[in-house]
Formats: sequence, C-alpha cells, structure tokens
Amino acid sequence: MSKRAANLVADRMSKKPSLVLGLATGSTPVGLYENLIALNKVGKIDFKQVRTFNLDEYCGLKKSDPQSYRYFMNEKLFNHINIDMDNTHLLSGVAKSIENECEDYEKAIAKAGGIDLQVLGIGSNGHIGFNEPDDVFHNRTRQVLLTPSTIRANKRFFEKEEDVPKTALSMGIGTIMSAREIILVAGADKREVMEKLKEEVVSPQVPASILHYHPNCTIFYVDETI
Ligand code: GLP
Repeated sequence: MSKRAANLVADRMSKKPSLVLGLATGSTPVGLYENLIALNKVGKIDFKQVRTFNLDEYCGLKKSDPQSYRYFMNEKLFNHINIDMDNTHLLSGVAKSIENECEDYEKAIAKAGGIDLQVLGIGSNGHIGFNEPDDVFHNRTRQVLLTPSTIRANKRFFEKEEDVPKTALSMGIGTIMSAREIILVAGADKREVMEKLKEEVVSPQVPASILHYHPNCTIFYVDETI
C-alpha cells in the first residue's frame, strides 16, 4: 500500500518538480514517507522545489515538543530528504492569534497556487485532518475541538490521556476538497469506517465521505493485516 502510494506521489513529482504537496500525520502514512525517503536517497525523486502544507497541528504544543506534528514531520520525513525547510508549512499550535494563523495559512496555500496533491489518513471515526464528525461540513482552516474518540485513539502517542490536547488547528473540508488530487491511505485497523465509506452515503458524521464528491481521489486501502 505504502509503496503504491509513494509511486503515485513520485510520479506527480516527476511531472511537476515544484509540486505543492499536502501532508498528513498519524501512523498510517509513515510507510509512504519511508518509501519517499528511499526513492529520494537513490535519486529517483527530488524535493528541492517541492512545497508542503500539513493538514493539522495540536493547539498548545511548541514545535520542539516531540508530540507536535511539526516534530513528527521532521522526524518521519523532512530531516531525511533534500527539502528546503522553508518550503515546509505547518500551522502553529501556539500562535498568538489563532484567527490570523488560520487565515494566513489559507493565504499561503493560495499563494503557492493551491495544493496539487493532498495525502490523507483517516480517523476511526471518519475524520480527515482533524475534521471531526459533526452536523455540518466545515469549510476552511480553523480551531477544532477534538472528540473523546479521537483523544482516546491518539493517547497512545502520549504518556497519559490527560496530556492529549483538547483542541487543534485543521484545514477545513473545503481546503482539502480544493486540492487538485487526493490520495487516502488506510490499513486494516480502519475496516469499520472504510466499510461505511463504501456505502457511498455522504454525511458530515463521516467527514471522509465527502471524498465521493472529489473528481480525482484515489484510496489505497489494505483490508487485511499482512
Ligand atoms: C490523527 C490525524 C489524522 C490521521 C489520524 C489517523 O488524528 N489528525 O490526520 O488520519 O490521526 O491516524 P493513524 O494513521 O495513526 O490511525
């Protein structure tokens, strides 16, 4: 799964060296990032001109915090490839003005020409980025309140559940859907929510279901542990 997803990313990078790449955290894309690192090491792909924008960041964590998504991205990808760190963008969870931070992020994406290829994982509750199940789809980048199920799911990365931040900043559904192409990676641990997606019912209670309306979305899903 990770290899196939990496090959798609590599193909798009070869077609557009200055690709604007949307990136995701979580354990699922780690294999994809390992494959990208390997392709970069043997000179098959070049990140020199690539620009990246990550989906989300926890509120209250500095980028030096090992649980922050900035730290995660540096560790799992950026430190191992020939990317210009100035071209890597993540929301700041400690920004003085959250409103400005979110607005500036949308502006920076627009200035880069929009996202060419957005990588997504999926939460067990169907969230993409940190767009949690709700009565409505939220359009743009904003602060979100994490649901108890997300806090429980993500506590494995923290010492104790109380340490998991209660809020985060996240690209909105509209931000994600504006990407020209989307790929979603999901492993067998997401079987339940992936089965739900197959029903083709689009509902904000399963935020990822909006992807049925995207004209260019590929899902890489392994439904068995291999
Ligand atoms: C976090 C991220 C999501 C990610 C999800 C699933 O909540 N905000 O972008 O898709 O985790 O993570 P995992 O792949 O570890 O199950």
